[in-house]
Amino acid sequence: LKITVMLGGPSAEREVSLRTGGAVAKALRSLGHRVDELDPKEKKWSLPAGTEVVFLALHGTYGEDGTVQRELDKLGIPYTGCDAEASRLGFDKILTKQKCVEAGVPTARFMIFESRSAVWPMGWQPPVVLKPVRQGSSVGLQFVDRVGDWSKKLAEALRYDTQVLMEERILGRETTVGILGNRPLPIVEVRPKAGNYDYQNKYTAGATEYLCPAPFDEAVTARIQEAALGAFKAIGGRDYSRVDVMVRPNGEPVVLEVNTLPGMTETSLLPKAAMAAGIGYAELCQQMVDLALK
Ligand code: DAL
Ligand code: MG
Repeated sequence: LKITVMLGGPSAEREVSLRTGGAVAKALRSLGHRVDELDPKEKKWSLPAGTEVVFLALHGTYGEDGTVQRELDKLGIPYTGCDAEASRLGFDKILTKQKCVEAGVPTARFMIFESRSAVWPMGWQPPVVLKPVRQGSSVGLQFVDRVGDWSKKLAEALRYDTQVLMEERILGRETTVGILGNRPLPIVEVRPKAGNYDYQNKYTAGATEYLCPAPFDEAVTARIQEAALGAFKAIGGRDYSRVDVMVRPNGEPVVLEVNTLPGMTETSLLPKAAMAAGIGYAELCQQMVDLALK
């Protein structure tokens, strides 16, 4: 096939995307496909003539939020991953939460903030998490452990988006569930060796321990996978995604978000989950292309 891998782009996750795209392009070439790489850094691009399918290795704003997907729809070119509307919903943490709540998928209690001068809200206790509504890879994310840190951390999170989501911080085990072909893969549990699972611990080889399949009993495993699949369906997901899920000590899953274009770097989690299901990296890329063309 003649495949164009779109990678890089203008978002805060550009570096991650370059790593995802490089790995994907190499794998697709190893399978005998003719692969072009296209970096829409300036948001202006045209597809190489002959392109039969686009592999979206973009992350973050522009590439993961439905913008590129809409443009490809206009061109009538098939592309990997979710359609434009599911991408828009999945990339916006508030819209994702609203869809989850409507569908009865468990998520953490939340509030939305748009102003630096907002005061600590009534009825809330630390610890909480502040997340720019439209970012990935933990970019701009703040943990607030003391009310005294509130103003500084809110201002910091608001540098990355006009809206910030505040959630209760779920103290429990941190997991992620890959979805491939609309089915859940084995659960990955993440255990950073030091500190939180932040940008650094996500992309530094060896910084985090990964357990896959995650050691939960069968009943809890099923509940986690069901919640993940529920969130994927709630945003209208297609083909693949990766859903981040916290698990409370009593085994109750709490969906954090749906990543419609999950990382495919050497330390990324969807490839680990696929591997645990017997699907190697190149085969995973091939399946994503096949799903796009189906
Ligand atoms: N946003 C990053 C790429 C991920 O979810 O893997
Ligand atoms: Mg994300």
